[in-house]
Amino acid sequence: MKQPQVSAVIGGQWGDEGKGKIVDYLAADADVVIRSQGGDNAGHTVLNERGKFGLHLVPAGIFNPDTINIMGAGVALNPKTLLKEMKELGERGVSFDNLIISPKAHLAFDYHLFIDQSQEHARGKNRIETTKRGIGPTYMDKAERIGLQAKLLLEPDRCMEELARVLALKRKHLDQDNEVLYPEYYEDFVKEAGAALKDFIRPTERIIEEHLHKGSRFVLEGAHGTLLDLDHGTYPMVTASNSTVGGLLVGAGMPPLALNKVVGIFKSYQTRVGAGGMPTELDNELGEHIRTRGHEFGTTTGRPRRVGFFDGVAALYAHRINGFTDIAVTRIDTLADVKELKIATGYKDTAGWPTDFPTDNTRLSDCIPAYESYEGWTEAEIAKASTFDELPLSAKAYCEAIVTSMPGAKLSFVGVGQARNQLLVI
Ligand code: IMP
Ligand code: MG
Repeated sequence: MKQPQVSAVIGGQWGDEGKGKIVDYLAADADVVIRSQGGDNAGHTVLNERGKFGLHLVPAGIFNPDTINIMGAGVALNPKTLLKEMKELGERGVSFDNLIISPKAHLAFDYHLFIDQSQEHARGKNRIETTKRGIGPTYMDKAERIGLQAKLLLEPDRCMEELARVLALKRKHLDQDNEVLYPEYYEDFVKEAGAALKDFIRPTERIIEEHLHKGSRFVLEGAHGTLLDLDHGTYPMVTASNSTVGGLLVGAGMPPLALNKVVGIFKSYQTRVGAGGMPTELDNELGEHIRTRGHEFGTTTGRPRRVGFFDGVAALYAHRINGFTDIAVTRIDTLADVKELKIATGYKDTAGWPTDFPTDNTRLSDCIPAYESYEGWTEAEIAKASTFDELPLSAKAYCEAIVTSMPGAKLSFVGVGQARNQLLVI
């Protein structure tokens, strides 16, 4: 029997590592791509022969007409933004014949966005700086057992009944009033969304089983990054889903032993959008230079991303949780022409004692990194290389140093530019 090939693609940092590019590459010959968790708070950019696309909810395998694209049970699905994204993609010739939405995915509605906003306001200086897409409140409702699953869109009347019940609870618990807290607000939309999405909502379990049996190639497309994971990230400055390997399996409904590759995506420097500790942050001219050069502004919110040196301590922590087999180092072109680069190899606490990666956000903010320095490279040197071996020695040494911080993992991809062919496969 042919063995299935199942690869999980996971952000190793705080999101925005360039997963889109790697998923796009792997999806080109994948039979099934599954998005397992998160919602439209995620965003990644794919640049292919059809142009540049900013994806939020639709799995990146959508560009290959032969690939089945599943949005799994673990996804927080905002039907309004999904329909908008599908419309935009559809206008550019993308077909959705192979899109499947798990009936178990939880729906995000405007009241979730409203609650996200009001919670952030109430948090004051302790705010998380969420993307305000209502993702936290959607998962709160799921855990509270008052969430609305995608299957309800197949029965608009029942969906409205459930909405009325849930919104009555919300009005009771929230000391606020707003039109989005009344069922009438959703009446037309639920019918519209139901009609537009009904053909996509179908069970995924047998499809996954059959493809595992056939020995198909799967890609589990992670959203966000390891350090934003609800359990393992820098709590409370995290997102509301499990963005590490276990979360991808649960959200997809996939037997864990089917997995044979865990690809960790690491940007060649560090970025973070939103609040929370970031020991290697460069709050200076170099940081500004990298931000400008790398267009480091959020795909979802447009916010400027915080920029820093590569954090090897955080990378090792991410490796301990995910067990990466393969590493992709992305965007080494962004670092071109910086003379001296640094990688954090250890932390010290405020008393000067060495410390491991602390997930307590307050302690993380106090960590002082110890660095090793590396020689940089030029843009011209990078542009010439079409294989890893053709890269300048300094760039190779830098990528290898990143991977050395994660014992047992091997370097498999290096990103040297945005375009599809600017990916060195090793
Ligand atoms: P939420 O996911 O909107 O609740 O936001 C929680 C935190 O995660 C905030 O700091 C966001 O900026 C961050 N976040 C959520 N999704 C992403 C992502 O895809 N990339 C980077 N940061 C993200
Ligand atoms: Mg992103």
